Parts: sequence; C-alpha cells; structure tokens
Amino acid sequence: MMLETIDMPITDLHPSPDDIIGDTVAGLSSTPKWLSSKYFYDARGSQLFEQITRQPEYYLTRIELDLLEASMPAINDAVASFAHVVEYGSGSGRKTHLLLEGLDDPVAYTPIEISRTALVASVERLAESFPRIEMLPVCADFTQPVPLPLPARETGHTLVFFPGSTLGNFAECDALRLLCSMRATMGPRGQALVGIDLEKDVALLEAAYNDAAGVTAEFTLNLLARLNREIGSDFDLAGFHHRAVYSRERGRIETHLVSRRVQDVHLDGHTFHFAEGEAMQVEYSHKYTDARFEALAARAGLQVVQRWNDPRDWFGLRLLQPVSVG
Ligand code: AVJ
Repeated sequence: MMLETIDMPITDLHPSPDDIIGDTVAGLSSTPKWLSSKYFYDARGSQLFEQITRQPEYYLTRIELDLLEASMPAINDAVASFAHVVEYGSGSGRKTHLLLEGLDDPVAYTPIEISRTALVASVERLAESFPRIEMLPVCADFTQPVPLPLPARETGHTLVFFPGSTLGNFAECDALRLLCSMRATMGPRGQALVGIDLEKDVALLEAAYNDAAGVTAEFTLNLLARLNREIGSDFDLAGFHHRAVYSRERGRIETHLVSRRVQDVHLDGHTFHFAEGEAMQVEYSHKYTDARFEALAARAGLQVVQRWNDPRDWFGLRLLQPVSVG
C-alpha cells in the first residue's frame, strides 16, 4: 500500500509494532535475565551511539568508512551497473553516500526501516544529493523477506547494503534467519554487501565496548531509563553497572547490566528480584573469522564472492550472492 508524504511515496508493509512490555517481562522472567538490545535506540540512545562512534577505542565506524571509501572502485567493479540499492536500516550518513556515489548509475535506493520518521528523514536528505536516483523507501521489518517496490527505470539487479556489523547484534539463530530473509529479498540474481567486525586481540575488543569516557556504559544504562519512562518500570540506574566481556568460545562481546546489590524491580504488576552481582544480558556483538562468517552465510544459501579488509584486518566488507543451484 502506498501512502504519500510531500512527494515521497512510502511503501508501508505495516510491520507489527514492538511489544516492549511483553519483551521486557519475558526477559526479566527468564534465568538468566535479559533485555532486548533493539530498545537501545530511542532519541537519547541514538545520540549516545553517535558519541560512541567518536570514542578513540571504538574503531568500527572509522575503519569501515575508510575501508568503504578505499574499496569503492573494486566494489563498483564487482557489482553490476544500474543496481537497485536496498539498505537494511535507514542510511543517510556517510556510508550510504559513499556507496551511492561510487556505483555506476544506481537506479533506485530503498532503505528498509521500521520507523517511519527515520525513514522519511533519511530519504529526504539523500534525495537532495542524488536527484537521479529514485527514492523508494519501505517501512518494514528487514528480518522478514521484503517484497521490493519496482523502480521506474529498468534495473540490473538488487544490491542489499547492511553495514555497521549490525548483523553481529543478532544471536546466531536470528542472524541465520535474517540472512535467509535477505536472500529472499535480493532474489536469485541479487547481491549483498555486508559489514562485519573481525576477531582480533581481546584487549582491543573489550576496550571498544568499555571506553574510558564511559559513553558505552551510559548508552547501556539508558536502556533502563527508556524502560522506566515508556513502560513504567522502576529500575534504579545507580543500582546497576555496565560490563562488556569478550567470549572467545562464542566469538562475541557479551554486554551485561550487573546489579550492585539485592533489589526488586517492578513492572506491570510483576516484581523481579535481583541478587547482588546478578548479571542481566543486554547485547551481543559478534566478531567473525572468515571461516565462521562463511559457514553462517552458507547455511543461509549465500556465498562470499569478494572480501575487502582494512590493512590491519580489523573490519571487513563481504560481497554475498545466492549459492547457484544450477
Ligand atoms: C551499531 C550494533 C554495530 O555492536 O558495535 C556499540 C552497537 N553497542 N557499542 C556494536 C554498540 C555498544 C554497535 N552496532
């Protein structure tokens, strides 16, 4: 169904709204307790994440930007002309800019994003910079297969863009499901360019999620402030501290909020008891080796056809396409 804003047609697939109370009650009722990291990004959380990307220890964003810029000529060679670029999440920043600028005549750009506001803001900015590219935003949940709007000009194929190592935030089974949906969305002749953070020295990884200025800790604790405000829970922010540790075994940073003392938290008629030192799981950030990433992609019917890393092999861009059946 098409809804018109000023002059921007938005395809609205009516993604089911987040069940923030249900998700939070489910997480707090589990052993061990957990909270969903998808609720980090309220206005304050998005602002704090921006601030994280400027911390000296948080190398991911800086390195991915440099890598994308340096690799664009090779990426353009590997991607067919007249692409329909489909971004998972609402781009608008420098990464999207570099990609659209570096490709030969992309026909259309489709950000897929659950928040209409973020969606509109991103395409409005990009439309100004790229008047020749048709903007076809879709309001949908990209963890599901998304039927794409048809560009007015003929397109060679679909290129899904999923930067930022956002894939790493999904537990393995969810990441697999997401890649399967991505394969369906891109179609048999499609490709995907995915940014992944690579496994490296544990001290470097842990520093990136425990910056000295404490911005990441504030970002994590902001989740509790948001829940208090939006669903009426009574988390005492001073009663918890941020802890991010790398698990070599699982290949991921595991972020917890740890209770500083015995305490109760109330939400929606429930009481949740915390022991002193009890850790609540709030975020994963998976780090990949080539072997691990290729195995995950293969399980989703995708193969890595090209790879680009920065000179230190800290961050990677991977070009994927469906494993050909013929
Ligand atoms: C935006 C999801 C890639 O996992 O590195 C940064 C989010 N969390 N610091 C990441 C995040 C804590 C970030 N991603």
